[in-house]
Amino acid sequence: MGNLIAETLSSSWMALAILAGLMVYFQVSISDPAAKKRAVFKTFIGIVSCFFLFMAIVNYKTNFYGESRLLPVSLVTITVTTFVMALYFTNLSAMLKVGGFMFFVAAFLSGYGNWLPQVEGGFPPVEEKKTWDSMSPQQLADEGEKIIFGGVGKNKEQGAIGKGQCPLCHAFHAGMLGERAPNLLGLPTRGKERLDDPKYSKGNPSKREYEVKEAFAGSGTAENSQEYIAESHACPSCYVVSGYGVKGTNDKQSPMPAIHKPPISLSLQELAAVDTWMYVREGIEPPPFEEIVKSYEKFIPEADRPKMAEDKPAGATSLMADGSEPVDQIFAKAQCVSCHTIPGIPGAMGTIGPKLEEGTTAAQRIKDPTYKGTAKSPAEYIMESIVDPSAYVVKPFPDNTMPKVFGQKLSAGALKKIVDYLSQVKAGAPPPKIS
Ligand code: HEC
Ligand code: HEC
Repeated sequence: MGNLIAETLSSSWMALAILAGLMVYFQVSISDPAAKKRAVFKTFIGIVSCFFLFMAIVNYKTNFYGESRLLPVSLVTITVTTFVMALYFTNLSAMLKVGGFMFFVAAFLSGYGNWLPQVEGGFPPVEEKKTWDSMSPQQLADEGEKIIFGGVGKNKEQGAIGKGQCPLCHAFHAGMLGERAPNLLGLPTRGKERLDDPKYSKGNPSKREYEVKEAFAGSGTAENSQEYIAESHACPSCYVVSGYGVKGTNDKQSPMPAIHKPPISLSLQELAAVDTWMYVREGIEPPPFEEIVKSYEKFIPEADRPKMAEDKPAGATSLMADGSEPVDQIFAKAQCVSCHTIPGIPGAMGTIGPKLEEGTTAAQRIKDPTYKGTAKSPAEYIMESIVDPSAYVVKPFPDNTMPKVFGQKLSAGALKKIVDYLSQVKAGAPPPKIS
């Protein structure tokens, strides 16, 4: 910036000096005293005008790209200059006046625009959403990370969770315990081992000993690693990793929800982004986007594919439920149903946590001598159990199994509906009505 000013100064001064020199030369050649006086005056005016012009140029050059918005000052200076010159150089007057007027109008308009209260940064940046098929693997992986964890770079953050809800059950990094579900580190290379497991019955789904033989009639089994991943998401009970099945089913049934079905409802494109992240984060080249989408088409029939704006990412929604839903949907959306049996709620048959009959149990928990929480009423106990599950750990269940995310991931309205419902569930009584 300093350079620019120096440059402008020197070049303008040079122009000014040449102009002044010419004027002095013309004056010396005039002999009539009256004419000479006029000429001296005109020279003075000329020099003043040049000075204004020079100011205008300096100001323009130094501020045009800057934030200070002083451009109008240049325009005003030029306007003044042209009018002053028009007054004294009458033969050029008409042209200068017209020019000056135009400058004045321009100055007024730009000044008006500039001095209006400014929204910070001018126009809001238009966030152009990329279409799925125009994305690079890294961009797809970023979308995948948003879907799984709720944001780019959040994969190592404790409790980070996105609309895919996978971290409710899965760990993704080495050393993190996966009691409820397999750790997904190494998945891209593990797929092949799974396919070779005799229990997988590759190519022969009817021989499977699992509750579901095929994702849908005729879909067959996975033929490669990526198809295994797709089948795992679309049909969790087609193959259940040993030791992770629903209790009491002898690993015949998986507790994992089908990811393309409500409430999670990821589209095929979103699923492809999730998978791309799993490859990219391990430094493995992912299969092309279209190929991943095809692997899902093999296991998800047309009618079951979630209908959404399929050409562009919808972005990670931050709340699991906003409270406008009926309570049974809230339980489903937050996956409470995968871990708890909740009387009166269809599909809530989980056994990873206790059966929720809080109308009976909550009061007993508060009276328990080992209770160290702060709840004074059943409603307070239920709320505490949801937003701070470790405040009191129900025996014989282990601590830290229930996710600690619900305080952030459910709206106040959704939490209230849950508390209202659960406090009415009593052991041995008919379940309350779903409101
Ligand atoms: C409610 C708990 C739960 C949620 C939520 C969940 N899973 Fe699972 N998942 C499991 C369990 C349990 C297993 C092991 C049983 C089986 O094979 O189905 C599993 C298995 C898998 C497997 C096969 C793993 C292997 O080692 O072969 C993949 C892949 C997988 N899940 C991916 C996901 C992704 C991606 C998400 C999120 C979009 C997700 N899961 C959400 C519980 C869950
Ligand atoms: C991944 C499994 C899992 C999910 C998902 C889950 N919970 Fe739990 N929950 C547990 C386990 C295990 C316990 C018992 C250990 C403890 O108290 O922390 C528990 C305890 C509770 C308790 C205390 C029960 C009692 O009798 O004192 C309540 C209430 C509860 N959960 C409500 C919910 C609600 C509501 C949701 C959904 C918003 C939910 N849980 C989601 C596993 C889960």
